[in-house]
Amino acid sequence: MTALSDAQRMEKIVSLCKRRGFIFQSSEIYGGLNGLWDYGPLGVELKRNLKNCWWRVMVHERNDVVGMDGSILMNRAVWKASGHEDTFVDPMIDCRSCKSRLRADQVFEKKGAKQCPICGSKDLTEPRAFNLMFKTHVGATEDEASITYLRPETAQAIFVQFKNVLEVSRKKLPFGIAQIGKAFRNEINPRNFTFRSREFEQMELEYFCRPEQGMELLEYWKDERLKFYGNIGIPRSKLHVLTVPDEERAFYSKGTYDIEYEFPFGRQELEGVAYRTDYDLSQHQKASGKSLEYFDEETKQKFIPHVVEPSAGVDRTVLALICEAYSEDQAPDEKGNMETRIVLRFHPRVAPIKCAVLPLLKNKEPLVAKAKEIVDLLRPHMYIFYDESGAIGRRYRRQDEIGTPFAITVDFETLGEKDPALRDTVTLRDRDSMKQERIRISELTHLLLTRIA
Ligand code: GAP
Repeated sequence: MTALSDAQRMEKIVSLCKRRGFIFQSSEIYGGLNGLWDYGPLGVELKRNLKNCWWRVMVHERNDVVGMDGSILMNRAVWKASGHEDTFVDPMIDCRSCKSRLRADQVFEKKGAKQCPICGSKDLTEPRAFNLMFKTHVGATEDEASITYLRPETAQAIFVQFKNVLEVSRKKLPFGIAQIGKAFRNEINPRNFTFRSREFEQMELEYFCRPEQGMELLEYWKDERLKFYGNIGIPRSKLHVLTVPDEERAFYSKGTYDIEYEFPFGRQELEGVAYRTDYDLSQHQKASGKSLEYFDEETKQKFIPHVVEPSAGVDRTVLALICEAYSEDQAPDEKGNMETRIVLRFHPRVAPIKCAVLPLLKNKEPLVAKAKEIVDLLRPHMYIFYDESGAIGRRYRRQDEIGTPFAITVDFETLGEKDPALRDTVTLRDRDSMKQERIRISELTHLLLTRIA
């Protein structure tokens, strides 16, 4: 088998995502809408499992973090104070010939003049600021007073609710507020499948601390986040930590790391971990006139907390999980001839379906009845798929292709027809090794729960 090039690999991944129901183009029957995607039946499970893992690790397993869920639309004053209205912009150039809007840093000079990279025309506008926020109006009248924006990050809802959450949770510094939710950016060049989208989800933690703890916590959170990726199946060897240079960092940040993953289309950012100082809370305190200070009961001092922010993209992580999981190997078909097998080697923790239950034959009532009993036994504990149609080898392949880590087959031995000692046992097949072991039905729940934990 010849090795796939990165481009071929990416093409196969995109096609598998559509074919098996992970990701579809948004509004596809109308020709789609650039930079927007819908998650199908398997994609939504994968995404949900990822978000649940993040929430468990970042909120439930800690004493120092609580969650919240803010609204997507907020008072326009939030975006003025945060700086997004004035500074969340990319300089853009329009091509007057082909009408393309281009990012200024992607337009290069040829023979002393700037040239459109799409059509080659030199008839270009001067660079202009283009705000990445989607503007909308709240209420019946569309005037200046009703303007607001779809949020371009979830973080600001956390900053503006800082005081309320602090009061109800009665946490002491350092402590964090976590949130998962949609964000919207009118990206000029959406590309690389879901990597750069116009609507996406973020998983953000704002971890508030004393000023002197900021730099140490920046290191701590970078390391925690690297561990997280390892625990969902993204190996450390495919992750890179970029220290964002001074000149590229936001002016208020004292340190930022980008955690990057080796996608087939190149090394790209999965998550940013930034020490944002007290910039955001100070801005909102100034603009709202409401105190966002923390009162330290020991020292009797009041101050604005600093914050360290690990901010991860749900969609980018889902894409990294799929890219990491995609593999092709050789396996024997029904007749023993070797064929190419497509396998998504997801970590069982994130796999959309945890286990398939398959009666060996669909026209043997006792096999079907037993298989359905097993489905009822396991269903309260995990997402199960029941499949009785087609040859057993084909059914295994279908599950391999969507990354189901385990398959249970109910055969004649389960019914005790050949050997009474094997009554109420089944075969449990492992997706990656394709090895099968004989297991008592009574032990299945515990065994599977241990393997998918
Ligand atoms: N609150 C900080 C913040 O929003 P960011 O680096 O702009 O920082 C954080 O975004 C993460 O959100 C990125 O690391 C990425 O995973 C995800 N993200 C940002 N823009 C995105 C886009 N257009 N499409 C998909 N994910 C995006």
